[in-house]
Amino acid sequence: MSPKQYLLAGALHVMTTWATCAPGYYMPILANFQLQLPYGTDDTPLYVSGSELSGCDGYQNSSWFYWNETSSHLVMNAPPSSTDCAKTPGSKHCRTELREEDPSSWSPSGTNTMTVTLSVPEADDGSHGTVIGQVFSAEYSKPVVELYYEQSGNIFMGVEQTTTGGDTDFTQVATVPEGTKFTYELSYSDYVLSFALNGGTPATFDTSQLGYPNGYFKVGDYNQGTNDYSKVDVYSITIVHE
Ligand SMILES: *[C@@H]1O[C@H](CO)[C@@H](O)[C@H](O)[C@H]1NC(C)=O
Ligand SMILES: *[C@@H]1O[C@H](CO)[C@@H](O)[C@H](O)[C@H]1NC(C)=O
Repeated sequence: MSPKQYLLAGALHVMTTWATCAPGYYMPILANFQLQLPYGTDDTPLYVSGSELSGCDGYQNSSWFYWNETSSHLVMNAPPSSTDCAKTPGSKHCRTELREEDPSSWSPSGTNTMTVTLSVPEADDGSHGTVIGQVFSAEYSKPVVELYYEQSGNIFMGVEQTTTGGDTDFTQVATVPEGTKFTYELSYSDYVLSFALNGGTPATFDTSQLGYPNGYFKVGDYNQGTNDYSKVDVYSITIVHE
């Protein structure tokens, strides 16, 4: 081989061994989300837009947000509140979490479903564990519901009872052991909030106390703990708005 050919072969070898594309290449739906990270400039979290998440050269970070090539899933890691993570004003907790950006808000009068296939290898030590999905009010900037995953594998719908937040009604809807793959569907359709596990019968929830606000979905790893890191492995996300 000439030195030139040798260099080229070396470069190709490095590329095939190391060049893992960003998650947005494998999951094109990430283009419709904005990502919030638990680090940033000083105390302000880094936000990454859907266009910056897209494609092989899109955003990735080997600590928080990357593609696992062996098992073909997105990895989302988040630190607990005892670390000096960057937080949103008004939150005590750290997150690596996606929020819908396109559309940025929709009405619960239509059909709105988010179906996520995932596993939670490590939930945090919060009283109901890690938040893995949300319907969030675009009108008054508080959750409609947060979906919690405990270290025990118990999964809870935490439905807000007021538009000012912090008054949450917890209902256990499923149990899936840590590390086991499952599919959940969150729906806020025809004014009914619901949760379904693995395509089963949905559990439904009244949100008349909130006045059925326009909302958007969130999905990922919103750590609620003090000491334990959380890890969420996401295999697919499907959203329907009609
Ligand atoms: C990944 O996150 C860490 C903070 O935990 C940061 O210091 C680093 O610069 C990030 N890397 C990239 C490639 O963004
Ligand atoms: C990829 O996922 C597999 C199984 O889900 C796990 O055993 C392995 O440690 C993961 N690798 C990385 C780099 O996260």
